[in-house]
Amino acid sequence: MRFRVRVPATTANLGPGFDCLGLALDLWNELEVETTGNHLQILVEGEGQSVLPTNKTNAIVKAMEIYAHQHCKTLPAGIQIRCKNNIPLGSGLGSSSAAVVAGILAAAALLKIPENKQDLLECATQIEGHPDNVAPCLLGGLISSFVDNNKVISRRIPIAPLILLIVTPNFSFPTSQARAALPVEVPHKDAVFNLSRVVLLTEALRNGDVDLLSLAMLDQIHQPYRIPLIPGATAAIIAGRKAGAAAVVLSGAGPSLLAVLRNQSELQDVAAVMVDAFERAGLTARVFNPPFSNKGASVIEV
Ligand code: HSE
Repeated sequence: MRFRVRVPATTANLGPGFDCLGLALDLWNELEVETTGNHLQILVEGEGQSVLPTNKTNAIVKAMEIYAHQHCKTLPAGIQIRCKNNIPLGSGLGSSSAAVVAGILAAAALLKIPENKQDLLECATQIEGHPDNVAPCLLGGLISSFVDNNKVISRRIPIAPLILLIVTPNFSFPTSQARAALPVEVPHKDAVFNLSRVVLLTEALRNGDVDLLSLAMLDQIHQPYRIPLIPGATAAIIAGRKAGAAAVVLSGAGPSLLAVLRNQSELQDVAAVMVDAFERAGLTARVFNPPFSNKGASVIEV
């Protein structure tokens, strides 16, 4: 048996949508899975090539085992997984959610478990702890989601074309550290700040209203605690906005920044000033310019 799994990068939070909004990006990891031999073999090319584990501790394999176990099934002993990775690791672009979604889709295909998106989404959310990356990774597009009594409630919100820029500094900021930086409670006025913006942000995204987006794509409940921990991020946000970006926010928990631009012609300038801000703080930074993807993860027979 041989098949391919494609999983997109995702950007979560989008400013005020902490832990509930996420968008799939047209930047993909691809897995070729084959049942062969009698042991597990993992090959990694591209992002994470020299650091990702190639044994049972690999996040894809762990997700495969969890999904198989939930369906009272056992994976075959001989599996070869060839990963072609384009999503930078630990960068706020959903690489860990992509691994989880890839793993459970691969397990479902290997074990011939009929595809059930809700079941896949709930398993992926249990593994990740929150649905905001796994939901758009699996379903594509902009997804708003929450967990209610272990059930994931999610809806796709249609959105207009957007010009996105991602700037990824070479800085390790694990999600665990980014979550530990958050306070247990937030002031009431900060909760209202986010609530009042997130609804109009979805409206701005739906209508491609970049002026509204520039006022609504702001956050008070996670970014103020995280941005100061990423060298150069405050300066990069200020510089990006000054150079014309409608909004610049943390992508997920960071350290990448997501900018929404008004015109394609601003791209070079905004990218240059943001990269420069990180360089002044001693970090190199990479630039990505993916469109969003309305398509989510898929399995392709080969
Ligand atoms: N919503 C999550 C967070 C995304 O901001 O912590 C990162 O996993």
